[in-house]
This record gives sequence, C-alpha cells and structure tokens, in this order.
Amino acid sequence: MVNITRLERVIEKTRDIVENSREELYQLGETARIDYERTKHELALTRNDISDTIREVDALELDYDKSRVYLMDVSRNFDKYDEEQIKNAYDQAHQKQLQLLSKREKEKMLRLHRDYLERNLKTLEITIQRSEELISNIGMALKILCNDLENASVQIGEMQQMQALGISVIMAQEEERKRVAREIHDGPAQSLANIVMRAEFCLKVMEMNPSLLEDELYSLMDLVRKSLQDVRKIIFDLRPMSLDDLGLVPALKRYIEQYITDYGIFVEITIMGQEYELASSLVIAIFRVIQESMTNVRKYANATEIVIKIEYLPKKINVVVRDNGQGFEIDKVTKEKNGMAFGIVGMRERIQLLRGKFEIKSTIGQGTEVILSVPSTTMDNVDGGRR
Ligand SMILES: Nc1ncnc2c1ncn2[C@@H]1O[C@H](COP(=O)(O)OP(=O)(O)O)[C@@H](O)[C@H]1O
Ligand SMILES: [Mg+2]
Repeated sequence: MVNITRLERVIEKTRDIVENSREELYQLGETARIDYERTKHELALTRNDISDTIREVDALELDYDKSRVYLMDVSRNFDKYDEEQIKNAYDQAHQKQLQLLSKREKEKMLRLHRDYLERNLKTLEITIQRSEELISNIGMALKILCNDLENASVQIGEMQQMQALGISVIMAQEEERKRVAREIHDGPAQSLANIVMRAEFCLKVMEMNPSLLEDELYSLMDLVRKSLQDVRKIIFDLRPMSLDDLGLVPALKRYIEQYITDYGIFVEITIMGQEYELASSLVIAIFRVIQESMTNVRKYANATEIVIKIEYLPKKINVVVRDNGQGFEIDKVTKEKNGMAFGIVGMRERIQLLRGKFEIKSTIGQGTEVILSVPSTTMDNVDGGRR
C-alpha cells in the first residue's frame, strides 16, 4: 500500500531540488549577463584606445620620417652644421624611433586584448543562451514532474478512497441485512406464528361450534393476505423488480403510489429534460437514495408533503427530494451517530462511488432537502480503476 503522505513528501523534495537548481542556474545566468555587459563596455573602450593609438602611431611615423630626413640632411652637410646640432639631430631621430616602437608595441598589445575580449564575449553569449534554454527546460520539466506526480497522488488518493468506500459499502450491506432480518422477524414471521395459532383455534371451533368457523376462516385468510403483502413489500424493498422492467421513473411512480396509500403523505414528482436510458447501477443508486429519503421523511420528519424533482441533463442527472417536515441538525446527528447513520452515510457513499455529488440541507421547522447530481455517462465503471 503506497503511503500517500510519504509520496507527497517525495514530490515536495523533488520539487524543492529542481526549483533550487533553477534558482542557481538563474544566478549563474545573471553573473554571465553582468560579465557580458562589462566585457562589452571594456571592448568598446579598447577599440577606442586602438584607434587613438593608430592615429598616434601614424603621427609618430610622420614625425620620425621628418627627423630622419633632417638627420640625413645634417649628416650630408657636415660643414653647414656644428657638432651640437648634429648630435641633437641624432638624439631626436633616436627619440622618435623609440616613441614609435613603444606606440606600435602598445597597439599590438591593445589588439591582443581586444581579440581576447571578443572571444570572451562570444563565450559569455553562449553561456547566457544555454542558461536561458536550461532554465526554460527545467521549468518545463518541473511542470511535467509536478503535474504527473500530483496526478499520481490524486490517483492513489482516489484508490484509497475507493477502498474506504468499499469497506463502508460492505458495512452498509451488513446493516441492510440486519434491517431485513428485523423486518421479517417483526412482520411475516410473527404473522405466520399468529396464523398457526389461529389455525389451531379454527380446529377447536370446528369441534365445538362449527357455525362460527366460516368467520374464523375469513379472518384467517385476511391474516394470510396481509402476511403475503408484508413479504411482497420486503421483497420489493430488497430489489424492486419493476426497476429492471420498467425503468427508473415508472418504478418510482409505482413506489410513490404505494407510499401515499401506506402513509398518507402527499408526494409530487416532476421530471425535467428528456428522459433517457441509464446504466442499471445508476438507476438502482438513484432509486435507493430516493427510497431512503422518503423512509426518513415518514420516520422522522412529520411532514405532509414531499416534492421530488428529477432532471435529465445530457451528461448528468440531478435529483432533489424535499419535505416540509420539522427538519433536523445534520451536524448533531452525524456526531451523535458517530458516522453510523447508515442511511445518510450510505446515500452519500453510493453517490460518491458513482463520482457524483451529494448534499443534505435541513432547517429546523422548515424541512429537509436531499440533493444529488451524478454523471450519467461514466457508469458501469465502479471498479475503482480509471478508463
Ligand atoms: N427528512 C428528515 N427529517 C427529519 N429528520 C431526519 C430526516 N432525515 C434524517 N433525519 C434524522 O437523521 C438521522 C439519521 O438518518 P439516517 O442516516 O437515515 O439513519 P437512520 O434512518 O438509521 O436513523 C435520523 O435518525 C433522523 O434523526
Ligand atoms: Mg434512515
């Protein structure tokens, strides 16, 4: 048996880890982005430096050429220049040469640095792109993961619910058996015992006063007829045969007729929408819930009237059973009976088993309403599994 809270913990942990990784990846991406901006800025500065340096190199080359021309001139005309001037010309040419060389060196270094920055920029660009892709991938994975795991946990939860339902269905059946046993004990069993006694009495009457026998036999027959009626009623309650033959609405109408005759409570039934054939599991569930509601009304409500509404929608059936009786406190009853109110519990579970909704509303002094709604399309599938 899979433990659902443990599964949920695993889900939560996995989600945490994945979310943390995403956060870290995001941080990495951010750092790369900052590096990228900084490198880009530095590259721009370096490019400026390079063009400045190139201009300086060009100017220095011109200068150097000029100083060399002057030096050649000086060295060719020893007689025109004195020693001091010749030395100066040498020094200047040399100086210019040195300056030019160092500027060229600087230009070379700057170019190298620029190439390095350009390579860096490319790498950073790729890093940023990759991290963005990864973040979106992880986001997607996270979504899939969470959805799937959540689905799994929902499925397990439903399975467990079904199992719990199965147990209460068995308990409800047991309760139903007890009820039937009690009904047979109180009704037909007692009547039969009575009949035996009356039959013995008839024998005695026949011996002692045969003229009274006819009356006695008639009343015995009445008793037998009534017992037969009781037995039929019990059989009908166990499994209304008309339900299979007639369908939900006619079977209900027949049941209601008998109910009115037996208990003198007025019942009005309204069918809305276009009636259509329903799966037999659904028909039985709806019939049973209405039957249990009506039994509760006659037993506890002190009502004079019941209104039943059945609405056939394309994909579901809505049912309302409302009485004008004294009402009751649902919470109190549930607490007092400690979940053992098999009537109400059984109704709710029957409907939930069919993936429907069930609700009871009751107001003291104003009556009670049993409301349910069941999907009519996914029937005959109460095996706890999914399609
Ligand atoms: N229509 C109703 N009007 C008044 N009280 C009701 C009605 N339906 C149910 N109850 C109250 O709720 C209790 C629980 O009902 P139920 O679950 O059917 O169990 P049970 O019929 O075996 O007592 C009843 O004992 C009664 O007090
Ligand atoms: Mg009941």
